[in-house]
Amino acid sequence: MDGDHHPPVRDIRCRTVCTLVWETCRNVATAGTFVCETGLVHTTRATLDKHHADVASMFDGVARRYDLMNTLMTLGAVDQWRQYVVDAVEPGPGQKILDLAAGTGTSSATFAACGAEVYPTDISLGMLEVGHQRQPDLHFVAGDATALPYADDTFDAVTISYGLRNVEDTEGALREMLRVTRPGGRLVVCEFSTPTAKVFRHLYRDYLLAAIPALARMASSNRDAYDYLAESILAWPDQQHLADLMAQCGWRAVSWRNVAGGVLALHRAWKA
Ligand SMILES: C[S@@+](CC[C@H](N)C(=O)[O-])C[C@H]1O[C@@H](n2cnc3c(N)ncnc32)[C@H](O)[C@@H]1O
Repeated sequence: MDGDHHPPVRDIRCRTVCTLVWETCRNVATAGTFVCETGLVHTTRATLDKHHADVASMFDGVARRYDLMNTLMTLGAVDQWRQYVVDAVEPGPGQKILDLAAGTGTSSATFAACGAEVYPTDISLGMLEVGHQRQPDLHFVAGDATALPYADDTFDAVTISYGLRNVEDTEGALREMLRVTRPGGRLVVCEFSTPTAKVFRHLYRDYLLAAIPALARMASSNRDAYDYLAESILAWPDQQHLADLMAQCGWRAVSWRNVAGGVLALHRAWKA
């Protein structure tokens, strides 16, 4: 691994034991980790700058247990939430659907089951590899949300679940999704959002900052990645601000539906 490309290290051991960090790190141990000259194995995570190489590397590192962690963190609600996304996307036989930031393809499989032609696309080769193993019938595509490998006006629907928050350039991705959607086509963004009730908002914040890292310590290969998850959710725009951003990027008739009291929001919009 080239020293210039190391993602920032947040592992506390790096600060207290290993002061050498980037310049001296040499070997990638497994995806999402590396070994420095002191022999310590460090995990990698993205920062809120969301540099795409850091994000891809972080997801490479969590790919194998990604779906399990989703089930644990949402107490099993994630399957119901995926069904809400299907209801919003309304996939039909023969429709072309871009599932962007598709990860392991769990959401893509639900669209394919409705007879749609799905293009699961993601920047993390580790997530795509796990996806290919679990969903061998899907055709996975490596691609960056801000420079999609598709022609203008290709898709009937574009959807992105739990992905937009991780993209370095949110507006660039929203404009790129507009470019590849056909006129009259639709966009569905499923993303963590801001609970509407004040008391619940505070409880949820505590859950994000305390319970998720605790779960990650037990079940994930990279707990730092789940610190990032909590931080990135708390820094993400609320429902109205995301709707405004979508409209600024050219999407029309933007609306949203809150799920679980606003823990999640499904934004829907159309290309004129
Ligand atoms: C939290 S996972 C969501 C996976 C999947 N959509 C799901 O519902 O489980 C976020 C995904 O976004 C992908 N991602 C982040 N930045 C991206 C980008 N710029 N272009 C494409 N994919 C990106 C990551 O690699 C990761 O697989």
